[in-house]
Amino acid sequence: MKNIVLTGFMGTGKTAVGRELSKLLGLKLVEIDSEIERRTGKSIKEIFRDDGEAKFRDLETEVIKEFSDRENLIISTGGGAVMREENIRALKKKGILFCLTAEPESILQRTSRSDERPLLNVDDPLKRIKELLEARRPQYMKADRMINTEGKTPSQVAREIIATLRKEFGNN
Ligand code: S3P
Repeated sequence: MKNIVLTGFMGTGKTAVGRELSKLLGLKLVEIDSEIERRTGKSIKEIFRDDGEAKFRDLETEVIKEFSDRENLIISTGGGAVMREENIRALKKKGILFCLTAEPESILQRTSRSDERPLLNVDDPLKRIKELLEARRPQYMKADRMINTEGKTPSQVAREIIATLRKEFGNN
């Protein structure tokens, strides 16, 4: 079976939906950010602080390439992963990409509980979210399907993805 790849902005629920999918389908969940943290022994926040965003992006591409060659995985990506075309290309090789979307206000609410996202540690995070969403939209749109998560639980979103896979992609 092809990999199910979750893309989308920070706070759109990729991790929670990935866990649901993993439970419902009995497939292994790979979280690219967690994998980077495991390998470096540092948190994403520490990598940004000590090594800079460029280094983080290189690590991200390396880990994505590695898992993109495997099958039967749920792969949850970081919100900025789609900004490198080579990441999208790699993930599409053996995967179907679902981009989760949410309104900027919901994203703010969902991300404000932690300070683990360096890109949103600014004075006006809502403004930042809107700017980044705008800049990234063309890349997010390259997913195979967009899934609006507004007002839905992670379990509902996961079931919607599974229904879409069965109906449109013949993936079971
Ligand atoms: C980022 C999103 C984060 C993480 C890093 C950068 C981004 O992942 O990869 O902080 O550029 O949008 P989540 O989308 O899981 O928060």
